Amino acid sequence: MRASSPVAYDSRHGVHNVFLYEDVKTVLSDFARFSSQRGRGQGSQNPDNALADSIISTDPPRHRQLRALVERAFTPRQVEALAPRISELTHELLDGFSRDVDFVRDFAEPLPVIVIAEILGIPVRDRRDFKRWSDAVVSGRHDGMREMATYFSKLIARRRDEGQDGEDLVSALLRAEVDGAHLTSNELLGFCILLLVAGNETTTNLLTNAVQVLSDHPGVRDELVSNPDLWPSTVEEVLRLRSPVQSMFRVSTESVELSGVTIPANAWVIAWIGSANHDERVFEMPDVFEPRRSPNRHLAFGHGVHFCLGAPLARLEATIALRAVYERFPHLRAREDAELKYIDSTIVHGVKELPVHLSVEA
Ligand code: HEM
Repeated sequence: MRASSPVAYDSRHGVHNVFLYEDVKTVLSDFARFSSQRGRGQGSQNPDNALADSIISTDPPRHRQLRALVERAFTPRQVEALAPRISELTHELLDGFSRDVDFVRDFAEPLPVIVIAEILGIPVRDRRDFKRWSDAVVSGRHDGMREMATYFSKLIARRRDEGQDGEDLVSALLRAEVDGAHLTSNELLGFCILLLVAGNETTTNLLTNAVQVLSDHPGVRDELVSNPDLWPSTVEEVLRLRSPVQSMFRVSTESVELSGVTIPANAWVIAWIGSANHDERVFEMPDVFEPRRSPNRHLAFGHGVHFCLGAPLARLEATIALRAVYERFPHLRAREDAELKYIDSTIVHGVKELPVHLSVEA
């Protein structure tokens, strides 16, 4: 598609698909012409649609205010401080590994949920419910969304009553202030749910995609075990090569020309991040896994004002977790006999299960 139809209209679904790196960057970042807000409907009053006016589906100037508020509470420095706890949680999960490990079920799924629960200050006794709801929320089931909305509304009210001086993110968000403005309880609720929707399955897939790539490249895996400094750039290369988020939607606000094709006003547009990250105009030998690739200006976390808020957390979590996995199990690799089933989605990229061998002789 990049070579023959870089901007292609799909009449069956009524969407314009954008494939080239530069065009994808434009669609993701030019919020005046490609809106994140239109087409998402209104609905913060409706708990089934708590995300309708969260930061991911608003445009500036409203987006700028919301983002500034949440950035006060969710800073890279605070994320960095989570490192020891992420490492502890990682080792707890690895302690539970036995012979028949499904890397998705036993590691890549639980870790991001527990980390977010920890950040939000969810009491340990509520973790199991929390996992159930977050699964329901991610798979778009309304019952889970409603139960979770009720739970978070109570949690927010409790933190408000407690005086908001807690270390958890909900208390920090209640304290956050920009130009005298605070988040309302409804906005806070939408943000908590967004963290789960945007942060869990994506991180799960990053971890699993990394194990898949390294199973195909045992030489790199062995090098990482002896040279852990190579982890950060390896994680970036996995993000590029097998991007957990393959596509994002926008709606055009006016008629726009991209790569010689006119997209009319009010049209659905899909920015194909997965294609942009393999664009041979930008990346040399784009289909080759090159853990030392530099520069590596992939768009896996988006571009511009909506650039992933959780990128520092995802990067930190993946680096700590994967390093620990291979320190404990240097020969870990995907089972060659396993039939891979991919998640049915044009947005997220990853497998549903990944059975692994833990040692050479397995
Ligand atoms: C936004 C990818 C992890 C929270 C985004 C966007 C992408 C993305 C592509 C841009 C959306 C757009 O332009 O419309 C990823 C990937 C992740 C990841 C690949 C993991 C590998 C996380 C985590 C969190 C998070 C761990 C939170 C804990 C968010 C939020 C936004 C966002 C809140 C919206 C930002 C805004 O609209 O200003 N993410 N994400 N993400 N992400 Fe992530």
